[in-house]
Amino acid sequence: MKVRALITGGAGFIGSHIVERLVQAGVELLVVDNLSSGHALFVPTGVKLVQQSVTSPDLEAVFATFRPDYVFHLAAQIDVAKSMQHPIEDAESNIVGTVNVLQCCHKLGVRKLIFSSSCAVYGDTGDTLIPETCGTRPLSFYGLSKYVSERYILLYHHLYKLPYTILRYANVYGPRQAVKGEGGVISIFLRHLLHGEPLRIYGDGSQTRDFIYAKDVAAANLLCLDKGDNRILNIGSSRATPIHQLAAIVRAFQPESSPLTYGPERPGEIQYSVLDHTEAMHALGWTPQFSLEEGLKETLDFYKGEERGVWKS
Ligand SMILES: NC(=O)c1ccc[n+]([C@@H]2O[C@H](COP(=O)([O-])OP(=O)(O)OC[C@H]3O[C@@H](n4cnc5c(N)ncnc54)[C@H](O)[C@@H]3O)[C@@H](O)[C@H]2O)c1
Repeated sequence: MKVRALITGGAGFIGSHIVERLVQAGVELLVVDNLSSGHALFVPTGVKLVQQSVTSPDLEAVFATFRPDYVFHLAAQIDVAKSMQHPIEDAESNIVGTVNVLQCCHKLGVRKLIFSSSCAVYGDTGDTLIPETCGTRPLSFYGLSKYVSERYILLYHHLYKLPYTILRYANVYGPRQAVKGEGGVISIFLRHLLHGEPLRIYGDGSQTRDFIYAKDVAAANLLCLDKGDNRILNIGSSRATPIHQLAAIVRAFQPESSPLTYGPERPGEIQYSVLDHTEAMHALGWTPQFSLEEGLKETLDFYKGEERGVWKS
């Protein structure tokens, strides 16, 4: 019998890349997504989509009918700024939603939960390379809601032996990413490039980020089907990219089109954020396959297609 996986948030940016990989692997799939930021168009033909919130009491009936072996939980509100303005909404979808998913997993005897967490759980560590053992001091309600969700997962495992893998992503980028969100600077830069608009850097651009391509993130998720049980793993490139370097790579695609502009440093902005992915290499046998240049090129091609009204992966 085919393995069955339910994926929450599967109509979103990262979720849709995981769905594509699961389809290729021959896994039977069900996507649960309320389409608050995702799109039905992102779900490949032939994959069933249930339009529902993960906070709904009806979620259990969806689980009971489909009876998934594995659950990939990505559904979340991902906008850090929104979490600061509307912390209750953020907690509702991210914390209550996760508890609802956990309860369904527990009741229906799901084999494993694979959870999409974030480097936002670390806050500003001051470290240049952040291992999983680093302390967690989230600085936003979004980071806190991800961290609290992780703690619920650990307790469900402790109390009910529900197996899990928690993946803490760095800044994910790639085709289908919306302008908002955690990895947003790349989608903003590439879209501005296509329109000949300035690329704006806040501060001197020396602040570094860890950019990881969505297809590499999807590959890590797939490996969790039979590896990485009961682990928390960083999924990032382990490479520091200063924002001014990112802007230079992006501008090199179309050197004449977009000037660089500089704005004042943004208060509270994290200076260095790079995840150490050594544990994920050992536990999953995973390493990123895409260089930043390759990933950016594919993403730019996607946005060019989007401008012409063509969706493609
Ligand atoms: N993009 C990044 O750089 C990044 C970094 C770290 C972690 N993450 C995590 O990865 C996951 C996916 O993020 P993304 O970048 O693909 O964002 P996204 O907004 O494209 O995807 C989230 C999906 O969840 C759906 N959704 C939101 N609330 C829901 C709810 N209550 N019920 C059902 N569906 C709901 C949305 O419609 C969307 O399809 C999130 O959990 C996010 O926190 C993303």
